[in-house]
Amino acid sequence: MHQGKKVAFVTGGTGGIGTAICQELYTHGYFVVAGYYSSGNHGQAKEWAIKQKEDGYKLEIAYGEITKFDSCQKCINEIVEKFGKISILVNNAGITRDATFSKMSLEQWTDVVSVNLNSVFMMTKLVIEGMLEEKWGRIINISSINAQKGQFGQSNYSAAKAGMHGFTKALALEVARKGITVNTISPGYIETKMIADIDSAIKKEILKSIPMGRFGQPSEIGKLVSFLSSDSASFITGANISINGGQHMM
Ligand code: CAA
Repeated sequence: MHQGKKVAFVTGGTGGIGTAICQELYTHGYFVVAGYYSSGNHGQAKEWAIKQKEDGYKLEIAYGEITKFDSCQKCINEIVEKFGKISILVNNAGITRDATFSKMSLEQWTDVVSVNLNSVFMMTKLVIEGMLEEKWGRIINISSINAQKGQFGQSNYSAAKAGMHGFTKALALEVARKGITVNTISPGYIETKMIADIDSAIKKEILKSIPMGRFGQPSEIGKLVSFLSSDSASFITGANISINGGQHMM
């Protein structure tokens, strides 16, 4: 079925950065499953998979409501039963609910923390036993420049994304001798719908603050994920790799 290829699972795999991650992993020889939620719009995800196939990427899809443990469990069980153990987990699913703190509702806070951070606990919890048995695994958490530097109007998102890297560092220590690496990637502003939705005057200001004078491309994140997934990256763990056109230097 997948001829000994390692199985990679990408949460939010049908989204902007997620699609590019799936494509790059596929190109580099992995068997790739894209997680989707799309408010239960299965037709939309199926169309995505058909379009990917037409473009030369044979990608599988798996439904999961990432904020609910039962749903995550069902999703992972189905993948493992159909395709085998997951060797690479990319925690990529994310949302924004931007508002200045004085206007931010509890719901905006909770939604962002649930989708962006709690899901990382749940998905990782569900795949790590398989990786420990195999004595090989890659966990890659997609965080954000805005976790590193903070962002006006994103106290929820910055907190959740910063939490991801705390998780990365602690787990990296626990599994360092077990053949599993855990890393964070912190993208800057990448050309996706999330960026398209920002008010155009604010977007212009953001662009001015990027030394390279452009937004990033999703494929640039996908290539880094693919490298971190490979055996060439076997000594990299607990790292937080910035990829932001020079906008923020640690
Ligand atoms: N720094 C300081 N002050 C700022 C500011 C900034 N960056 N932006 C706005 N302000 C000020 C305004 O000048 C205004 O001040 P006055 O009241 O004195 O005139 C005040 O803040 C406006 O405050 P409001 O609460 O009324 O703000 P708003 O409701 O109009 O807009 C917002 C708030 C929706 C969060 C808007 O600021 C915004 O969209 N910001 C961009 C957030 C952003 O970058 N999101 C990134 C999304 S992409 C992503 O997250 C991907 C990734 O990982 C990189």
